[in-house]
Amino acid sequence: MTTPVAVIADAVAYAQAVEDAVRASAAYYEAGTSTLDDDSYDRLVRAIAGWEAEHPDQVLAGSPTGKVAGGAVEGDVPHTVAMLSLDNVFSPEEFTAWTASLARRLGRDPERYSVEPKLDGLAIAARYTRGRLTRLVTRGDGTAGEDVSHAIGTIEGLPAELTQPVTLEVRGEVLMTTGQFEHANEVRTAHGGTPFANPRNAAAGTLRAKERAYTVPMTFFGYGLLPLADTEPALADTLRACAHSDLMGRAAAYGVNTTAATAVPGVTADTVEAVLERVSEIAALRPSLPFGIDGIVVKADLAADQRLAGSGSRAPRWAIAFKLPAVEKITRLLAVEWNVGRTGVIAPRAVLEPVEIDGSTITYATLHNPADITRRDLRLGDRVMVHRAGDVIPRVEAPVAHLRTGEEQPIVFPEACPRCGSGIDTREQRWRCESGRNCHLVAALSYAAGRDQLDIEGLGHTRVVQLVETALVADLADLFTLTREQLLGLERMGETSTDKLLAALAAAKAQPLSRVLCALGLRGTGRSMSRRIARHFADMDHLRAADAEAIRQVDGIGAEKAPSIVAELAELAPLIDKLAAAGVNMTEPGAVPPVPAVPAADDDARSADDETEATGAGKATTGGEGATGGAGGGPLAGMTVVVTGAMTGALEKLSRNEMNELIERAGGRASSSVSKRTTLVVAGEGAGAKRAKAESLGVRLAAPDEFAALVAEFLDRAASASAGQRV
Ligand code: IVH
Repeated sequence: MTTPVAVIADAVAYAQAVEDAVRASAAYYEAGTSTLDDDSYDRLVRAIAGWEAEHPDQVLAGSPTGKVAGGAVEGDVPHTVAMLSLDNVFSPEEFTAWTASLARRLGRDPERYSVEPKLDGLAIAARYTRGRLTRLVTRGDGTAGEDVSHAIGTIEGLPAELTQPVTLEVRGEVLMTTGQFEHANEVRTAHGGTPFANPRNAAAGTLRAKERAYTVPMTFFGYGLLPLADTEPALADTLRACAHSDLMGRAAAYGVNTTAATAVPGVTADTVEAVLERVSEIAALRPSLPFGIDGIVVKADLAADQRLAGSGSRAPRWAIAFKLPAVEKITRLLAVEWNVGRTGVIAPRAVLEPVEIDGSTITYATLHNPADITRRDLRLGDRVMVHRAGDVIPRVEAPVAHLRTGEEQPIVFPEACPRCGSGIDTREQRWRCESGRNCHLVAALSYAAGRDQLDIEGLGHTRVVQLVETALVADLADLFTLTREQLLGLERMGETSTDKLLAALAAAKAQPLSRVLCALGLRGTGRSMSRRIARHFADMDHLRAADAEAIRQVDGIGAEKAPSIVAELAELAPLIDKLAAAGVNMTEPGAVPPVPAVPAADDDARSADDETEATGAGKATTGGEGATGGAGGGPLAGMTVVVTGAMTGALEKLSRNEMNELIERAGGRASSSVSKRTTLVVAGEGAGAKRAKAESLGVRLAAPDEFAALVAEFLDRAASASAGQRV
């Protein structure tokens, strides 16, 4: 996890390094801009610390390691108790060493730890007098900060009035969620300003800005509660004696936002192993969080332990930051490519100067659509902040506008489809080739033949290219009228391969409607959404007869998506007719068509990538609850099931999609994330964060074999379907 740190050669290089770090740090804290990304800054400071350890007599006063007190005082509001920083560790080994040093100080292990995310924003102190928010102060140099009370009212989670008329100080982090950041940059560029490079910089700049023509919201998370000079003595004593975890409960009860409301709530842990397990869990959840975290903060939970451990001048000895690898780096935007996808959508992609983020070299990043490029005010040659966490596709967060040289060039949008030269339909945010799915037919057909769609074995990419190039296939339906002679006429196509492909095509015709729908590739409709639609309508005729209102009855489809599905179905009508005429099945086994609709609430808020979404508790469906059980039937009726880890035994061959299909056939709901609403987690080999989360929430766990026994009756059907014998 630790990145190699450069070694400083001599005093001159040391002085230069200190100067660079101080400049970067000032930009970071004051202007909300950055000259270095966090990782480069951390490495620089570690190199400085390394040199200082060897030359303790030559440490410069301004060094960012803070070994020498007396940095310039920034701001003029003194803190009642110093706002300290945190020391860092970068690996389980370093963390374990820290716990050992803490235990040495205490003369025993700490009673317990509290473990919470390290929020990537700015520390502020919020003073409440008799329950009213009266003053906001930045951390400044730790002893005094700047008064930023003008920001009161713009920070969600920091109420103007607490639920009780108490006098105290709440400390915590101000940040922008991803959504708030996007909004802030949109508003800022609309007002002629330059965009902020990342949410942290945006929060810093916004917090300090006094006279802006606009306000943009930020979010606060509390992580400390302490008495002020005029706090009522009994309350002051209570606050001083309270464990950190209890203080957080108290803060939440006062109405202050804390991590308790997030997917990564602060927890307590009794052992080092339990802490490390929680660290892994939080790290695993990081990519899906709607706000940035740059580590995990581990604290001795009890006030008595904290007091005994004490604090240094820079950081407490009872707390540590377990830093996670940086997910952001600055690099250069070299070019923008325009790629056409299987549905004809023309998507821009950033070509970057290669940059390493958390062990992977990043050369491409998504840019969502042309409007997004304009909104972000991106230019060719820009230095850009690139974000990559976990397996999520890297994205360009924003340009680092203050690093512009003036030589950057505008990004030119295509005027014709870059693939086939047709016109471009620019009516929606996502531009689309006017030839639609026909533009990139190979991609559309390869997708349709995929394992989670029609599962046509023997129809790989090369074969699809061959079929399209020889003009034997001009759309999906043509596949099903291919003759033996036509296939035999193809190069490298013998009798055996031909017969196998014909058998696979015949089997594909019997796939359920859910898979046919998925194969058609309605935009914004993946596997799980296709299954929900198919189960709801039971057959293609009912689906095609549905208007937007009727489609909104499907769990997860809201006012925005419903009309686009209607439009897509209309566009696909000739193809659907042709597929039906070729004998492709258009019904969902076991599902019952709906009775006339009841109006539904809007829930378009779901992500377009429905595979990452929980199917969740939703609107009542009429039928479609498994092949034999009818509505509500089946061994998993009423259950929300999550699958994690590698499946074994009878389930070994099933893809995640097939597992989800199995769950739904057995009457349950398949979900991809564990929450309090989860009823069962099927945990196979190598299950990690989801299993741990289930354990911490007390959700029932089942091994693959146990689960297979539970749904045995439905499993047989899956097996026969996979073998191409579905009827
Ligand atoms: S505790 C004396 N808890 O990290 C204890 N700090 O690198 C200091 N931070 O200045 C603060 N999340 O701005 C604490 N859960 C958390 C935190 C957190 C983020 C920030 C805070 C602090 C910085 C130190």
